Amino acid sequence: MGQTNEQKLYIRGGRQLNGEILVDGAKNSALVCMVAACLVNDGSEVRLYNIPRLTDIDIMIEILRKIGKTIEINEEYIGISGCIADCDVPIKLASKIRGSIYLMGLLLGIVGKVKCGLPGGDKIGPRPIDMHLSAFEMLGAKCEMMDGRVEGVVIKELVGRHIYLKYPSVGTVCNIMLIAANAKGKTIIDNAAKEPEIVDLANMMIKIGIKVTGAGTDRIVIEGKGNIRGNVDYEIIPDRIETGVFLASVAMTGGEILIKNAITRHNFPLLAILEECGTTIESNGEGIYLRSNGILKPVNVNIMPFPGVATDLQPIITTLATKCIGESVVIDYVFPERFQYIYELNCMGARIERYSNILKINGGKKMYGAEVKGNDIRSATALVCAGLIAEGETIVSGVEHLLRGYVNLENKLISLGADIVKR
Ligand code: EPU
Repeated sequence: MGQTNEQKLYIRGGRQLNGEILVDGAKNSALVCMVAACLVNDGSEVRLYNIPRLTDIDIMIEILRKIGKTIEINEEYIGISGCIADCDVPIKLASKIRGSIYLMGLLLGIVGKVKCGLPGGDKIGPRPIDMHLSAFEMLGAKCEMMDGRVEGVVIKELVGRHIYLKYPSVGTVCNIMLIAANAKGKTIIDNAAKEPEIVDLANMMIKIGIKVTGAGTDRIVIEGKGNIRGNVDYEIIPDRIETGVFLASVAMTGGEILIKNAITRHNFPLLAILEECGTTIESNGEGIYLRSNGILKPVNVNIMPFPGVATDLQPIITTLATKCIGESVVIDYVFPERFQYIYELNCMGARIERYSNILKINGGKKMYGAEVKGNDIRSATALVCAGLIAEGETIVSGVEHLLRGYVNLENKLISLGADIVKR
């Protein structure tokens, strides 16, 4: 094996963070809205604003170009136009991102068939796609998994139905919404996921002429075969996970931050925890302001589907808990194996014990800089944040994961006063 030129972050901890930032557009909204824009298949354009320029987005662009869409990229927006000419998403591309799974719902709806490599994404425990496939079948498609990909075909026609989900899976709801746009009649999703990204997808679909009601509640209704039209602009919501990372970071280091474009209702679950820890929060429609003296009380956190606390914030909340004086408990009911990073935190001096999907964190102990590696977007983030509160130097590798999830994370932290060098 040759040497790699992998970049690392060198972080000197112990600095307070202070200042104002703007967060970028929500990655997971952007990915699915880019696919939804392809529901417009008459050549006209959909312009998506506030798309974060991340490596996962670049892969989605590559996939959309592969199926025949024209993508214009400029500073302000990504324009998606042209017509679908191909329903094959190669394994090599599909396996790079989880969002590739949305091509299944899109292509089954528009073309009536699809060959799509199994989706990739973060290694955060098992990520089955059984609920996606069984929903497609309920609406009239037949799907088979073979040789690392799914081959699907619409048997006669897609017809809307009442679908009850055994779990409010974000991806499954998005995929049903995408396929249902081209099914005859109404599709009703019960026990739907309520994440803000799903509301964003619904708003975008409404903008291109599809009738969607109930997004953000347990029941979403999609009326298929509407008058879908392009030549529309749509702006993606700000990223609530990025917002959470900055709020939690300042809570840990002490200091004050104003996130000027954060949407309060998307961040309520985390704000409640940060207040319980003892930070001061003000949010009045002009972003979210947080002030912390860095002395934090322990918390008990249940990670659940929205409006529960987001699983994507679980690693950073655990890191926060290492700073809370006393015992905190974090339980993840969404991805119960998303805990690889705790061994790295323990190497830095944290005292975290794991019992199945439960973490007990004996916080308030001194953390020390160490050489650590992030294996997915959110665990790499947590290690960077641990570096901010550790004594001495922390060297974080796995930085490529950060580029998948955040635009300029380290530069934004530096602008707030963090001592971080990338080399
Ligand atoms: N699940 C099934 N069967 C399915 C689908 C899901 O059992 O067919 C289970 C999963 O195993 C998991 C739970 O349902 O235990 C939740 O999975 P969900 O489908 O809600 O997640 P996802 O759609 O695969 C999206 C985000 C994730 C985020 C989760 C939960 C994208 C591209 N990914 O994944 O984001 O953690 O929702 O909010 O939207 C990240 O950004 O770092 C990330 C991992």
